Amino acid sequence: MTHIVVAGTGYVGLTTGVSFATVGYNVTCVDIDVEKIQLLQKGICPIFEPGLKESLLENSFLNKIEFTTNYKEAYSHADIIFIAVGTPELPDGTANLHYLKSVAKEIAINAKKNLTVVIKSTVPVGTNEAVKRIMLENAPRHLTIDIVSNPEFLREGSALYDLFNGDRIVIGSESQSATELVKELYKPFNTAIYTTDARSAEMIKYASNAFLATKISFINEIAMICEKLDANVDHVAHGIGLDHRIGSKFLKAGIGYGGSCFPKDTTALVKEAELVGLDLKLLKSVITINNQQKIKLFELTKSLFGNLKNKEIAILGVSFKPNTNDIRHAPSIDLINQFIREGTKITVYDPYALPELRKVFGDSINYSVNVKEAIHEKEATFILTEWREIVETDLQLYEELMKLPLVIDGRNCFELTKMQKKNIHYYSIGRKP
Ligand code: UGA
Repeated sequence: MTHIVVAGTGYVGLTTGVSFATVGYNVTCVDIDVEKIQLLQKGICPIFEPGLKESLLENSFLNKIEFTTNYKEAYSHADIIFIAVGTPELPDGTANLHYLKSVAKEIAINAKKNLTVVIKSTVPVGTNEAVKRIMLENAPRHLTIDIVSNPEFLREGSALYDLFNGDRIVIGSESQSATELVKELYKPFNTAIYTTDARSAEMIKYASNAFLATKISFINEIAMICEKLDANVDHVAHGIGLDHRIGSKFLKAGIGYGGSCFPKDTTALVKEAELVGLDLKLLKSVITINNQQKIKLFELTKSLFGNLKNKEIAILGVSFKPNTNDIRHAPSIDLINQFIREGTKITVYDPYALPELRKVFGDSINYSVNVKEAIHEKEATFILTEWREIVETDLQLYEELMKLPLVIDGRNCFELTKMQKKNIHYYSIGRKP
């Protein structure tokens, strides 16, 4: 059975490793983070992702997956190596390829067999070629080296579902034999495979995220007009989404996209274009609209209250979307910062992300253990993440517990007709109050 090594046990690496183990391969996951590897060896999952913990434990128990910091040993015995290390944003907006390049070098130095290296990390166009050059410089001369681009399309919060129910797997390589090898590897996933050249595969990843981000900023712009003209953006999104050419997905108006992917990848694509003398005007507007959208609710509150000093508010949901504890680039961060500057007293609740939020805001805000406690005696409640628990909160509680029943909903969680029957002042996105 093919022995797969995955370099990097971040979000993508870990889910990729676990899914390959689940379909029967022997997998070794490598990381230089000793603490993380020790946790994983004990069966403890360092990230919150539905189903991952259970899958990890099961595969560890069956000896299908192992975790190590001994990369030299792991690389020397691998049949195929997936690189899934992070490519975080540099201060200038470009992708940081430092980790990727150092892993490539280590793989080459320690290789004892011919190499097939698959790059899962999101990388600028041309990186596969750069990696191949690094490996040729460092690997023993008698070995062959094939590089394959295989970008990832999974979403946080539904990563395992996406891995087994994806729309497509993209494989880009100049090597026919490596393409066939990776195709074969993915057979158990029963997903359509699209093969192309490496540069196009690299671009497919950026273009996919840029297009989805564009849909979100588009509907958020339409939401702005809807508010002015008393139309309902949810109805508009539904109406346009029925046209298959447009599609109904990613048309949910809200407080903007966040997370570790859309903000980083859209900026990186703009920068990549600049490097070749192009000005991506559409994508730049998408980013600008999103940045404005993130603080939209702050401006609304300011217009409602005027002075926000010492106002007591509750924020429900801080992760960038439900089913994850990830707060990277979450709209909640921008909003909380704005309120802190105004001297507003903030109490937050989130089912999973509060430990992460505490790392950012420490004691400058208050943390609650549940919705009830968070909204008690508050003058406004903001809904920033549509966690099921938050959406299903009994609306009566806002009327009973808040000092002033004012709910500002950044995710359009409730039907307007329902809210109009309640004794709640209700504001949402792209719908009249
Ligand atoms: C995104 C892509 O959807 C994945 O295909 C891709 O693999 C991943 O980035 C990546 O590059 O690794 P993810 O960031 O996990 O996945 O989350 P999404 O579900 O795409 O949501 C991103 C943001 O858009 C969230 O803040 C969400 O609230 C927002 N969103 C999404 C909207 O505001 N409206 C929508 O209609 C959909």
